[in-house]
Amino acid sequence: MRIAVFSTKPYDRRFLDQANQAHRHELVYFDPQLTVATAPLAAGYRGICAFVNDRLDAEVLQLLRASGTELIALRCAGFNNVDLVEAERLGITVARVPAYSPHAVAEHAVALLLSLNRMTFRAYNRVREGNFALDGLLGFDLYGKTVGVVGTGKIGLIFAKIMHGFGCKVLASDPFPDAAAKAFVRYVPLDTLLADADIISLHCPLTTETHHLIDARAIARMKDGVVLINTGRGRVVDTKAIIDALKSGKIGRLGLDVYEEEEQLFFQDLSQRIISDDQFMRLTTFPNVLITGHQAFFTAEALTNIAETTLSNICAFESGTGALQRVTVDRRV
Ligand code: NAI
Repeated sequence: MRIAVFSTKPYDRRFLDQANQAHRHELVYFDPQLTVATAPLAAGYRGICAFVNDRLDAEVLQLLRASGTELIALRCAGFNNVDLVEAERLGITVARVPAYSPHAVAEHAVALLLSLNRMTFRAYNRVREGNFALDGLLGFDLYGKTVGVVGTGKIGLIFAKIMHGFGCKVLASDPFPDAAAKAFVRYVPLDTLLADADIISLHCPLTTETHHLIDARAIARMKDGVVLINTGRGRVVDTKAIIDALKSGKIGRLGLDVYEEEEQLFFQDLSQRIISDDQFMRLTTFPNVLITGHQAFFTAEALTNIAETTLSNICAFESGTGALQRVTVDRRV
């Protein structure tokens, strides 16, 4: 099938080309993000391949459908950027990669937590400058601490297991508790988790229910000095409320791999530009905040699986046989 692949970077091309040796689709790579302005690039392609920050709202979907698109193959797990109701109305099939490496994301959440706890990102710079002072680097034992996991799907469960291995007590909140997880996780209402956890890690999808799940009210319930990690989706937290809580000391350490307005920032080199997002720039000024640019998924294993499943989805759509990892409206929680 002829596919227009949006938001491509050299690493996407490398892994997609490698996997495509077996599938032999015609992949045409476009650097830009998919938006209303770039949608015309997809004219004449039956399928398009999109990533997390490509915009697939009603307007873009209508443009795509009018120019022949029948399939949107997302090369990611999250699908909050797609208007599924409109896609269904237009008869566009949406497929995704439901699980490419939940370990990659869970391990990155742990990496953020460990770095923040022992301030290794600050220590790195200090030692390079010959500053061996330890002030400001004080951490705490993870052993014995209470960790709250919001969302125990594929990623949250692995994160919970790792934290259990550290000797932490693990609390979890999920509208659909996992029976097997009960061996090492105690399910509690969200408010209890917020109140009792020393460390909170967010692993739920972005939905209308989870938008700003962590707002001023939720933060007020948390322990003073709580560590908050978000590798889920930026809009699950209210950034303004987070900044206020950092200023007051309510949040003791913050690790983010996702950000509310990341579409304007992430996956590009802006080091020579003036960044106009004052909220984001304020976050970068705190010594106890560690931000990575949506890289939790970024392992060789994950990229291999993403490419393989994306191309298999395209094959399944084209042939009408095989497993198509379809996203439908009712799959939203
Ligand atoms: P999953 O679908 O396996 O699990 C999500 C879990 O969240 C489910 O158990 C669901 O019941 C639960 N959930 C839904 N609403 C909730 C709520 N209000 N409170 C608590 N839990 C709730 O998804 P998976 O694979 O574990 O991924 C989770 C999220 O991680 C994705 O939706 C995506 O947004 C994000 N992600 C981030 C990546 C990154 O690179 N930073 C990469 C991949 C995914």
